[in-house]
Amino acid sequence: MIATQKIQVQLISLMLLLLPMTAFSEDRGEMLYQNHCVACHESTVHIREARKVKSYADLEQYTRRFAGLAGVEWSEADMELVIEYLNRTRYKLQD
Ligand code: HEC
Repeated sequence: MIATQKIQVQLISLMLLLLPMTAFSEDRGEMLYQNHCVACHESTVHIREARKVKSYADLEQYTRRFAGLAGVEWSEADMELVIEYLNRTRYKLQD
């Protein structure tokens, strides 16, 4: 095998290796939310006219409160992924 082909094969292997890792970290907040939070409310609760969350601090507070109510034991990193996921997809508040 000539040198450039070898490099190409190595690059493709590396990409295949990294692909599931990025998918995992990008979707983890969504996965946690879908698994633990949509049982009580549809995600439209976050975009209704009279929504409670008005600032990023509110979002953090509500997410932590409901995580407590739902009885999940998320690590701080997971908590932040869910907050970030809700803000990215629904609230779009400034940090
Ligand atoms: C036991 C039922 C229940 C579970 C489980 C639950 N929620 Fe809720 N959630 C509610 C209710 C009811 C409201 C509306 C509260 C209100 O209007 O005062 C709400 C509202 C919210 C809001 C505020 C929406 C707004 O008005 O902007 C956030 C944020 C939220 N939930 C996040 C979560 C997260 C994150 C989870 C998963 C850890 C979760 N909830 C799980 C019942 C639940």
